[in-house]
Amino acid sequence: MRKQIAAANWKMNLTLQQGEALLDAILSRPHSLKENQQAVFAVPFPYLAMAQQKLAGKANVFVAAQNCYSKKSGAYTGEVSVEMLQSLGIQYVVLGHSERREYFNESNQLLADKVTICLAYQLLPIFCCGEPLAIREANTQNAYVAKQLEESLYHLSAEQLQKVVIAYEPIWAIGTGKTASSGQAQEMHAFIRRQLAEKYGAAIADTISILYGGSVKAANAVEILGQPDVDGGLVGGASLIADEFVAIINALK
Ligand code: 13P
Repeated sequence: MRKQIAAANWKMNLTLQQGEALLDAILSRPHSLKENQQAVFAVPFPYLAMAQQKLAGKANVFVAAQNCYSKKSGAYTGEVSVEMLQSLGIQYVVLGHSERREYFNESNQLLADKVTICLAYQLLPIFCCGEPLAIREANTQNAYVAKQLEESLYHLSAEQLQKVVIAYEPIWAIGTGKTASSGQAQEMHAFIRRQLAEKYGAAIADTISILYGGSVKAANAVEILGQPDVDGGLVGGASLIADEFVAIINALK
């Protein structure tokens, strides 16, 4: 059975104290994570150790970094290495978020290197893909996403690919309050799975969790996460509100 994941992406929000209070509030609310379900918190780098400590010993709950660098170590002032993340016991790393692609010029090629180095250090990538509005309006989103997958993931062996979680985040739906319809999400997720099946075979493609991101909230989570190829959500704004995120966790199938 594929992993179902509710992933919080705090982005560059909250102070340390606010982050602690948010985690306490979420953990104190009733939530039910089944064996194949996980909640993941992608917190800013300075809060990783705090989040690791708070979530220690809690079943099916993990901490993610929001980024990492593509090199092992060295003179890269301001960057964070996978070895550092591994030494903290971090489980996941979000890679290739559209905000990193747009504001920090991250290319498919750079992301291929980041995926590789994460896997070399037993960190599981949450690899983001998704098209901007102009591409959706031109109805060329499938080719656009297929290229992102091909250039950043297809150097991996089948065994490596199975460690990757994919997050489809249409850029026009991020932080806009405008979600893809559940039909649009399902259509793209099924397309991504078909692409993976063509390259790696259907049995492998069936094991890969594909999350949807873009204005997921309590009010639409059951509908979107209920789609057969949607294996959870990567949540920005609504993950900063305890009741909202707990409802999203509870909407996992
Ligand atoms: P919003 O949920 O705020 O639209 O953000 C989505 C996102 O970018 C998660 O990574």
